[in-house]
Amino acid sequence: MSSRIWLLQFCLLQFYVSLLHAIPPPPVQCYGNGCTVDNYQGLWMDHIPCKAANVVYPTTEEELVKAMAEAVKCKQKMKVVSKWSHTLSKFVCPGGDDGLLISTRDYSTAMSVNQSAMTITANAGVQLRTLIDYAADFGLALPYTTYWDGVSVTGVVSTGAHGSGLWNKGSALHEYITAMRLAVPSTEEEGYVRIVSLTDVDEDLDAARVSLGVLGVILQVTFALHPMFKRSVSLEARADNLLEEDVLSFAQAHDFGDITWYPSIRKALYRLDDLVSVDSPGDGINKYQGFQGIPVAQIEQARRGEEFLEKTRNAATACKISEMLLNKRVSDGNGFLNDGSSFTGFPVVGFNHLMQASGGCQDSYSYSTKQHILTPTGVQSQSSCASQKDGIDEVLPDSAFCYWDPRINSSIFYQTAIAVSLSNISELILDIKKIRDIDPNGLCGLGLYGGIMLRYMKKSRAFLGINEDVVDIDFTYFRSRDANSPRLNGDVMEEIEQMLMQKYDGHPHWAKNRDSVFYDGVAARRCNNLEKFLQVKRRFDPDELFSSEWSDVVLGLNKFEGDLRSDFKFGNKCALGGLCICFEDRHCDPDRGYFCRPGKIYKDARVCRFEESSSVASW
Ligand SMILES: Cc1cc2nc3c(=O)[nH]c(=O)nc-3n(C[C@H](O)[C@H](O)[C@H](O)COP(=O)(O)OP(=O)(O)OC[C@H]3O[C@@H](n4cnc5c(N)ncnc54)[C@H](O)[C@@H]3O)c2cc1C
Ligand SMILES: *[C@@H]1O[C@H](CO)[C@@H](O)[C@H](O)[C@H]1NC(C)=O
Ligand SMILES: *[C@@H]1O[C@H](CO)[C@@H](O)[C@H](O)[C@H]1NC(C)=O
Ligand SMILES: *[C@@H]1O[C@H](CO)[C@@H](O)[C@H](O)[C@H]1NC(C)=O
Repeated sequence: MSSRIWLLQFCLLQFYVSLLHAIPPPPVQCYGNGCTVDNYQGLWMDHIPCKAANVVYPTTEEELVKAMAEAVKCKQKMKVVSKWSHTLSKFVCPGGDDGLLISTRDYSTAMSVNQSAMTITANAGVQLRTLIDYAADFGLALPYTTYWDGVSVTGVVSTGAHGSGLWNKGSALHEYITAMRLAVPSTEEEGYVRIVSLTDVDEDLDAARVSLGVLGVILQVTFALHPMFKRSVSLEARADNLLEEDVLSFAQAHDFGDITWYPSIRKALYRLDDLVSVDSPGDGINKYQGFQGIPVAQIEQARRGEEFLEKTRNAATACKISEMLLNKRVSDGNGFLNDGSSFTGFPVVGFNHLMQASGGCQDSYSYSTKQHILTPTGVQSQSSCASQKDGIDEVLPDSAFCYWDPRINSSIFYQTAIAVSLSNISELILDIKKIRDIDPNGLCGLGLYGGIMLRYMKKSRAFLGINEDVVDIDFTYFRSRDANSPRLNGDVMEEIEQMLMQKYDGHPHWAKNRDSVFYDGVAARRCNNLEKFLQVKRRFDPDELFSSEWSDVVLGLNKFEGDLRSDFKFGNKCALGGLCICFEDRHCDPDRGYFCRPGKIYKDARVCRFEESSSVASW
């Protein structure tokens, strides 16, 4: 197959279409004898289904408290799961196999804005997109959000999710929480459930800001808002030779900027993203293509292309495709539309809530039609990429899906997201450059998923928050659907992952990452105040009904036997699936040519490296 064909297929992924959307599948499925809960990719890291005895879909606080009280009474384990379960590791799994799942899918979506206090209060059923649109109706803005708007408000804060920038209180949503209402387990005398109302003056709020779901059920959350403003966004591709210097000055120069780095093609895409006055002209929106619904045939074709590159170990083609995608991001606006329907050039200026987060594939959401907000037209037709091809112009008949939808042969991927101190970021970039220089094509695969994203976060006040100003290093890459299956240049990815965690004392994102980075509570111990968090946990949930085997590992409360750092899950080939860090060849796959070797630059790393049987080990 010529690489040109693969180029075209990746092109297609970028092609806007306006079709009926297939809403993502519900994460909870129940059969005669119980239920299972999945993440949004439909596959847990360890490939072991997560089981529960039953699920409830309360619509009101009363219903929720009633169901929870029954569970507390029988000491049943429980967890809250949001509508779509966007967290990759098993935080939503209740302990054991017969816990209770409390879904917020049908829960009240009531919201209220206090205009004089400039706050918004939302019930646990509210999705991020609805929240920021509602605040906008009152001329108010939540300064920072995640880039994807398909998440639930309580799920986002529980996992410490964020955007990028050092302005204001920083880019994490939980920094803006001013009050919270929770349901926590209690005694029989109190009816088994106690409602806790926390405000800014309660120290317990700093435990509840980022709680990983282990403190109880968040019923309601209040955020501080800012008067509405606009953002001005430009994308610029530059050579990466000064990246290690730029990364520091860029943080100071831009309120919301980020950088996506393509090490193997030696370029970086700078998103210059700044606050501008609400009176600035511009009705721009961000309709990021990757989050739009895409016809199933196009998603599957792209996946087949990616699998082919993996199988044929063709990193060079991945680099060619990445370069084309990068250029296209700048030339077609990467989803930024100046007037809501077309891209005519940077900067794109628009209201904060229409520029910071985007989505589309998750529902039939259409942008608000309120007067101060622009209404985009439905269909995007032009695409420089698509117009190059001939013969495959047909619009496919089926619905559009999110590109990760597990019901089709979709994309499935790992995500590594680990934040390191601003004071170490330059050295880290130099280390990654050294790794790149040893194996120039080793990081090509990252470009297929948009490169390494660098995003800024400020020191947090949450107990499980980050204790310094950091840059979050976030990259996505191929994952096989088969358990413990290798990926092209996986050793390079593992070396960077271990370097971030071990050499640079990184802070992993709670909702992303492979299981091996959470070993032994190391991430939790690096937070502001794990001890205080655990004290609040013991007070709120003394019987540990909201805890599970997984959350205990993450919080350092449950050690598997042996040396967790190297043997998280003991099995053969465990390192290939991100379940352990190898120390013996059997943790890789020697029969297929994968051996446990030290990193090339970071020698303390232990990675699974492919070595052709004919070649002599060179490490
Ligand atoms: C396409 C995509 C893009 C993303 N982009 C970003 C990004 O830009 N920045 C970023 O930081 N993250 C990002 N993420 C990660 C995402 O923000 C997190 O996965 C999110 O925080 C989880 O949201 P969820 O609403 O699906 O919650 P779930 O995964 O369902 O829940 C997360 C945790 O919160 C707990 N929980 C949820 N609701 C409650 C409640 N009411 N009470 C108690 N506990 C609760 C659950 O038990 C679980 O432990 C992205 C994810 C995807 C899939
Ligand atoms: C709104 O906030 C103000 C200032 O904090 C407070 O005095 C007032 O009671 C609030 N209003 C409502 C309806 O809660
Ligand atoms: C995915 O592809 C395989 C093999 O190509 C096929 O057997 C299977 O039915 C496909 N699955 C879906 C959900 O389309
Ligand atoms: C990170 O920065 C701190 C503070 O400057 C320094 O002490 C430490 O050695 C650095 N770590 C690495 C791995 O460079």
